[in-house]
Amino acid sequence: MTGDKSSATSQHMDKRRSTFSGKLGYVLAVAGSAVGLGNIWRFPYLAAKYGGGIFLLTYLILMLTFGYALIVSETALGRMTKRSPVGAFQTFGKKMPFKFGGWVNAVIPMLIVPYYSVIGGWVIKYLSEYLRGNTQILARDDYFTGFISDGFGVELWFLAFSLIVVVVLFAGVKHGVERVSKVMMPLLVILAVFVAGYSMTRPGALEGVKYFLIPNFENFSWMTVVAAMGQMFYSLSIAMGILYTYGSYMKKDVDIEKSTTQVEIFDTAIAMLAGLMIIPAVFAFSGGDPDTLQAGPSLMFITIPKVFASMGFGTGAGIMFFLLVLLAALTSAISLAESGVSTFEDQLGIGRHKATILMGVIMILFGSASALGFGVLDFVSVLGMSILDFFDFLTNSLMMPIAALATCLLVTHVAGLNRVIEEVEQSSEFKRKKLYCFFMKYLAPICIVIILLSSIANVFGWITM
Ligand code: PFF
Repeated sequence: MTGDKSSATSQHMDKRRSTFSGKLGYVLAVAGSAVGLGNIWRFPYLAAKYGGGIFLLTYLILMLTFGYALIVSETALGRMTKRSPVGAFQTFGKKMPFKFGGWVNAVIPMLIVPYYSVIGGWVIKYLSEYLRGNTQILARDDYFTGFISDGFGVELWFLAFSLIVVVVLFAGVKHGVERVSKVMMPLLVILAVFVAGYSMTRPGALEGVKYFLIPNFENFSWMTVVAAMGQMFYSLSIAMGILYTYGSYMKKDVDIEKSTTQVEIFDTAIAMLAGLMIIPAVFAFSGGDPDTLQAGPSLMFITIPKVFASMGFGTGAGIMFFLLVLLAALTSAISLAESGVSTFEDQLGIGRHKATILMGVIMILFGSASALGFGVLDFVSVLGMSILDFFDFLTNSLMMPIAALATCLLVTHVAGLNRVIEEVEQSSEFKRKKLYCFFMKYLAPICIVIILLSSIANVFGWITM
């Protein structure tokens, strides 16, 4: 990206607004934001928990239909209005529904980045242990549980991660971040291919490969759909205002349809590689133990160390792996927090430093609650969930569907499908135009209603997540 992002949504910005350097620049920037903990940490544990192959199949279908339509819509609306979400919605009207639609999109990243940073802190802790050569200790069964319930230790690691994010935001070294992700992405792919290959060839691992890749309809439940949909939002950075902002930096000659496809392929490839690293390892090292498959957020931290402990050069692999995951997490967290900072700047009319401090305070308050929720605050349970799980649930299962619904309504009832199509056609043949219209008019609203109703049913205990 070139130019100054912070001036992006100010009133007179159209002439000065920064743009991505070109097609590749756009795809790399969006992929850099999309690929993060969602792919490596979140996707494998959800796939393990919600049915393996059937989860994967549901995810792929949703991504190619619903997800595709939403990415195209958000990007086109951003490019059309040249505004981030709050401004983009208000271009079409100043009344309450427009304000709400914009704000719900804009607030989500502010609620995600605190708990994202908690997981980022766990990654730093594991990296530091590998650096000290504690490869075997990390592979012990109860190591992870001991660590996250350990008083203020977790808080310090969380603060370390947050500090890096806030310092980068203060320094405003976005170009540096982009350069880091350009080098890091290919390295991450190479390492992931290597670890997945190792993990899949361990004795007993084949069962895991089958569990992950072959759909078994017996494992299907409503929660498979709900979890897959939430993950799709999360992983592709949809329904959180990010793509509006990125679209607003996009030049008119970038093919929205093609770049959407490229980002989807890249993001899914990394998620699948992570699945192939982690799920076969559950079968090889824990005998496919159902409890381990259900481990949830801790899965990556339980299985990956066992893989490395069994390798000849496991310490080196552990250092590389957690370093790359840390970098992927940092670039994503920085873009999440950056989006919060620019919303504050534009909407509250405060300077960048103040906006960054405000974002930092929100991170520390909500993040600390999530970090301590497994230890000193473990008596706190919100709707039966730990604090971290609650924030994840609130954003992915409740707020994102509402944000997505706002975008759908904006496209179908306010801007009009034709205007969005015109925007896309400026630089694209838009081969899937008919499908796009069908997805936006029918499929997306249905999916959104399903996810919302299921989430509410879950809150009342009618179904379990
Ligand atoms: N898509 C990221 C992930 O999968 O980890 C999460 C994310 C990062 C969402 C940055 C939004 C964003 F701006």
